[in-house]
Amino acid sequence: VFNALAQTPPMGWNSWNKFGCNVSEQLIKEMADAMIATGMKDAGYEYLVIDDCWQVGRDEEGNIQIDPKRFPNGMKALADYVHAKGLKMGIYSCAGSETCQGRPGSRGYQFQDARTYATWGIDYLKYDWCSNEGQKAEAAYRTMSDALKACGRPIVFSICEWGENEPWKWGKGIGHLWRITPDIRDCYQCVFDWGGVGVLDIIDKMADLYPYAGPGHWNDAEMLEVGNGGMTRDEYITHFSMWCMLAAPLMSGNDLRNMDKETIEILTNKEVIAINQDKKGEQARRFMDMGEKEIWAKPLDDGELAVCFMNRTENSWKLDYDWKKQTIYFADEVNIHRKEYKIRDLWQHKDIGTTERNTRHEIPAHGVLMVRLTPIK
Ligand code: GLA
Repeated sequence: VFNALAQTPPMGWNSWNKFGCNVSEQLIKEMADAMIATGMKDAGYEYLVIDDCWQVGRDEEGNIQIDPKRFPNGMKALADYVHAKGLKMGIYSCAGSETCQGRPGSRGYQFQDARTYATWGIDYLKYDWCSNEGQKAEAAYRTMSDALKACGRPIVFSICEWGENEPWKWGKGIGHLWRITPDIRDCYQCVFDWGGVGVLDIIDKMADLYPYAGPGHWNDAEMLEVGNGGMTRDEYITHFSMWCMLAAPLMSGNDLRNMDKETIEILTNKEVIAINQDKKGEQARRFMDMGEKEIWAKPLDDGELAVCFMNRTENSWKLDYDWKKQTIYFADEVNIHRKEYKIRDLWQHKDIGTTERNTRHEIPAHGVLMVRLTPIK
């Protein structure tokens, strides 16, 4: 059962980026309602994950205690509400004895907590790495993985040790996704002396990790910031497009209850999401790097290909692209020199030609051109 989960990158919403510790039953219910009303569910978003701060202590038998003020009806009732809407529910804990916000972690209680989650109807666990007290990461995550496998309910396992112990090398079979960086910040290019990474840093870190991604085991590029206000429209389009190219989990991290039209259009672009959810499960590779102008390619099921031109510069990129001259090919499966492909622009929602003729584009500063190539039979 465990191994059959997350065959495509998980999609959902997580409370942390926007709400931090301010989580409650009311918030999660409203987010579930909004997920449906806004078309997010229809676009594929499924998991509602309550991050840190729902837990306040343990009782004398060691059972984890839920904050009774914030979750007056308990987790089971909330999960029932979420399930009745056709959605799934996720929760957060930590491999250390305390979470990153100083709440009780699961160290020493892994099997007990996993059983508790199963009785509540939890479908997803994000498992953090604060106060880890020098444990070995692989062993610590394996213990919780074993507990989840034994708990009697299919639960997606999200490893969150920030890439410190190269989880891509051992995470497959233990978890379904693993973070590869410190926490994301709502910015395109930024450096924080206290930790945290912007969109471009994450993309660069992801670049070398494509061999480790596939159905059931994904490099987690971090939760989305789309809609949180720190980036321009083109930067958010780059953020979202590249997460889709990179087969990264798509966990929205904004307030779904009041999204503007632009945010909804980005988060629910089904043609772009289809690239993320393609069943072949390959992560894009950067096959051309011309200074700050890059071309990424992601082989899709059935001999199709997604291509993303990414403009990191401050100026628009005028491009007259000769598809026949380029070397985008992956063995015999995708070969622009041997076959003709239809080209579809996934943000304009328009067919724009075929690979037999040049196409012309103007890619905005910090923006992308994202296309899907389909062989013409
Ligand atoms: C860590 C994680 C974040 C978030 C917080 C919660 O920083 O990396 O994603 O879960 O803890 O405290």
